[in-house]
Amino acid sequence: MHVRLKSPKEIAKLRKANLVVSDVLDICQELARPGVTTWDMEVAARQYLEKVGARSAFFNYQPAMDMSPYPAVLCTSVNSKVVHGIPSRDEVLVEGDILSIDFGAFVEGYCGDAARTFPIGKVSETAALLIDATRDSLDKAIEKMVSGNRLSDVGHAVQSHVEGFGFDVIRDFVGHGIGRQMHEPPQVPNFGSPGRGLLLQTGLVLAIEPMVTEGSHKVEILDDGWTVVTRDGKLACHFEHSVAITEDGPLVLSRR
Ligand code: MF3
Ligand code: CO
Repeated sequence: MHVRLKSPKEIAKLRKANLVVSDVLDICQELARPGVTTWDMEVAARQYLEKVGARSAFFNYQPAMDMSPYPAVLCTSVNSKVVHGIPSRDEVLVEGDILSIDFGAFVEGYCGDAARTFPIGKVSETAALLIDATRDSLDKAIEKMVSGNRLSDVGHAVQSHVEGFGFDVIRDFVGHGIGRQMHEPPQVPNFGSPGRGLLLQTGLVLAIEPMVTEGSHKVEILDDGWTVVTRDGKLACHFEHSVAITEDGPLVLSRR
């Protein structure tokens, strides 16, 4: 499979899908306080999809034959959960938690995908720093989305920023191209030396998603077959934006 560049018309459709995604993340952000369950957020996200007539990109997603279909529209990953946490009625948020919400949707055949991490009430200094560093690393990566740069410049920007704080980047999961499908080539690692790989050009659309850990980047998968957790039990953080390269530079499709 090769990388397919998108026309301005396609980018407009990707923008539409990503605005639905941004709205759902806003709704979740509003709900993100102690006493709320991750299932409450799942319900709110489903209601919004219904209201605007969009389709979940995650529900029933099955990347491989030997995996169970993903059972929800949101990924809700609390504390040491890195990504792909499954919303649950039993998972009550408490003060000091950090919660990553990942959401994807199809509108008119085009996919939007984005994620944010929220503090629940007052969080530790380390947790707050992890959130800020991860969010800022995504902004640094987005700045590299300029025609003439190389793909590895994106991941290098993430890695060099967060390692400056003593944090680590996940190796086992990566960002991706996005379009008519949620996952398209190329893969977008959050690490590596700069100046390598695909030449970036106008029309390229990537979902860039730094996954950053307080301790080691080593992860394992829980028995539910989906939830990715840190091996050392320390915190993890995740932000994601879908970003297009335009004539005028990077356009963040999933930011209002
Ligand atoms: N946004 C994630 C990704 O880019 C989540 C997809 S996993 C799913 O890979 F199963 F929840 F769909
Ligand atoms: Co993604």
